[in-house]
Amino acid sequence: MKFINLLLSVVLAFSFVNSQGQNRIDDNISGKVDSVMSLMTLEEKIGQLNLITGEGEVTGPVTMDRNYVQQIKEGNVGSMLNVNGSEYTRRIQKIAVEQTRLGIPLIFGYDVIHGYKTIFPVPLGETATWDLGTIERSARIAAVEATAAGQHWTFAPMIDISRDARWGRIMEGAGEDPYLGSKVAQARVRGFQGRYFNEKHTMLACAKHYVAYGAARGGRDYNTVDMSIRRLKETFMPPFRAALDAEVATYMTSFNELNGVPVTGSKRFVKDIIKDQWNFNGFIVSDWGSIAEMIVHGIAKDEYEAGNLAMNAGVDMDMEGRIYIRELKNLLEEGKISEEQINDAVRRILRKKFELGLFEDPYKYCDEEREEKLLLAEPHRKHARNVASESMVLLKNENEVLPLSKNLSSVALIGPLVKADKEYIGTWSAHGEAKHVINSLEGFKNKLGENTDIVYSKGCDITGEKKDGFADALEKARNAEAIVAVVGESAMMSGEALSRMDIDIPGVQKELIMELAELDKPLVVVLMNGRPLTIPEVDEAVPAILEAWLPGTEGGNAIADVVFGDYNPSGKLPVSFPYAVGQIPVNYEHKNTGRPRQEDVRYTSKYIDGPNQPLYPFGYGLSYTTFSYSDIRLSQEKIDFDETLQVGVTVENTGDRAGEEVVQMYIRDMVGSVTRPVKELKGFRKIFLQPGEEKEVTFDISPDDLAFYTKDMQYEAEPGNFKVFIGTNSQDLKEKGFKLVK
Ligand code: BGC
Repeated sequence: MKFINLLLSVVLAFSFVNSQGQNRIDDNISGKVDSVMSLMTLEEKIGQLNLITGEGEVTGPVTMDRNYVQQIKEGNVGSMLNVNGSEYTRRIQKIAVEQTRLGIPLIFGYDVIHGYKTIFPVPLGETATWDLGTIERSARIAAVEATAAGQHWTFAPMIDISRDARWGRIMEGAGEDPYLGSKVAQARVRGFQGRYFNEKHTMLACAKHYVAYGAARGGRDYNTVDMSIRRLKETFMPPFRAALDAEVATYMTSFNELNGVPVTGSKRFVKDIIKDQWNFNGFIVSDWGSIAEMIVHGIAKDEYEAGNLAMNAGVDMDMEGRIYIRELKNLLEEGKISEEQINDAVRRILRKKFELGLFEDPYKYCDEEREEKLLLAEPHRKHARNVASESMVLLKNENEVLPLSKNLSSVALIGPLVKADKEYIGTWSAHGEAKHVINSLEGFKNKLGENTDIVYSKGCDITGEKKDGFADALEKARNAEAIVAVVGESAMMSGEALSRMDIDIPGVQKELIMELAELDKPLVVVLMNGRPLTIPEVDEAVPAILEAWLPGTEGGNAIADVVFGDYNPSGKLPVSFPYAVGQIPVNYEHKNTGRPRQEDVRYTSKYIDGPNQPLYPFGYGLSYTTFSYSDIRLSQEKIDFDETLQVGVTVENTGDRAGEEVVQMYIRDMVGSVTRPVKELKGFRKIFLQPGEEKEVTFDISPDDLAFYTKDMQYEAEPGNFKVFIGTNSQDLKEKGFKLVK
């Protein structure tokens, strides 16, 4: 007890917080941290580096005994995950504060990936909005709910670039492109972290999984990654660097090995880059058990060696591995690590506890009243509906089948996902519950008046071979004025450890769609899925296809909003949809090769049984209106290294509905000291246009935007010829040349 009082007085002595609040760079914090550290034993310091799971739904293999209460009392725990709700977090926090020698509060972390209780579309889907304000707002709301339920730290955003639709975790990220991925990473970090951590509703974000986890060989989760340093720096690292610029509080190392060394044990990739080159001052956590897994990878003989690798790599906190608790003292005694390394890790973690204000009020996030009031609050649901509508991508709309009229006499809703509430919220859906989901049938009922007869038939299951529901579905569809089929993947088909080798629409759903298509009626396929699917046959057979992703709590309302034209779709794909799985990896930003594809020319770079291009390219998405693009205007044809080029187009809404368009700008460096991609996204703007309205959209291009890792691995632009492209997706573009001169 004596020590708790001492600790309190130390903290208060340093609590001369300025009137604007204590922000993340409060200078007083270093003094406070040092004072607390001066009271700590080595064991207590090591305890701060230990993150263990509570009794919530666990998110990995628990290998250790789960008597965490005893471990907290012994000062062996610094933070916990999967402890949710204000009552539970308060109970556990009380143990840390009242029953340990120093009373240092715990940080509670949780995977708040796309909402806490109100669930938004899966992050890949949400990225299809290309609307950074909307994306930031989702993260903000998620933080408001999660902090009201006692959480201080989210293991998000997941910012792994991926070009492999087989990988289940592609659903959690922002897709294939480092530029878009970086912008989205920053929006999400800003949303979670808010302005000041000492405000009640802000939480620490965690940029994960550092690094190259999305390049797992064969798309199989946790698999090996082997790539050039150039590819790593150009494609996979930028979102992590961008997160730093948005002041992300923490990083998580990934499970995968990279070029022979698991990242969790790689000083070269972790400490040397994040801490030394980037001067990051937050803390770095391992992934679940990823320190111990270095034994299985075959790079450490035992826990001692695994701990040695991780600590020397700069990993500050051990998630559910207990390696640090068991081995750091031995490693220190044997001179493998220094006391300063342990102190540095502890300092980084305590700093965040101070920034969160936990020393002043360890219970400030445990507030039953706030929890009751804020979870699933009406404005949150409203945002969930808006963001879900905005995330939907219209992939095809022949003969303007969509939007359907609200005056239909009847509509048939067919398919296993129509009423499958729990699938709408996907995996990593935190405390989201199926019972709060508005499914498509409910959404249609909410939308349509009594004059429209809504009939439903499941048709078949998501997986499996059974077709005995086909007859009923076809019968109902035949008698309806229009058919909407809601098909795709279940929630448990994307996410962690949920890779697929066949990414077609599963089960017999495709056959059901083909039979519906033969009825020759207005037919809309609404796809729900957490990854790109390969759907060339469906694309061929069906007039209208709407990609709805796993749309979250308000999914059914949002689907109805788009299908019946209350929202004009504006989503654009953040990832290419392959034509066939054999094209993977397929992405818009590729190299030209020495023999680019030419039809009917034998020795060119192509498949003999299909196209090189994906079925739907990156950036693609239709609207119920149409947009025309003028030719590109340049402010000048040449710029030097001190100048900025303005490029502009006029975009006109040439249809008869108001709508939004994502105007995309790409560049190509025609000749470099290393070969450059045929296109790279360098800017985008989302604009709203009334029918007949035009807007001028301009972008600035500076030499910085033209920089890349040159032959000597210098990040700089090289003089020469460039092309700029502007248009509606990565394939349908206007172009113009310009020069960069020395
Ligand atoms: C995942 C992380 C997650 C962690 C904690 C791991 O299995 O890879 O993304 O944050 O579990 O739940």
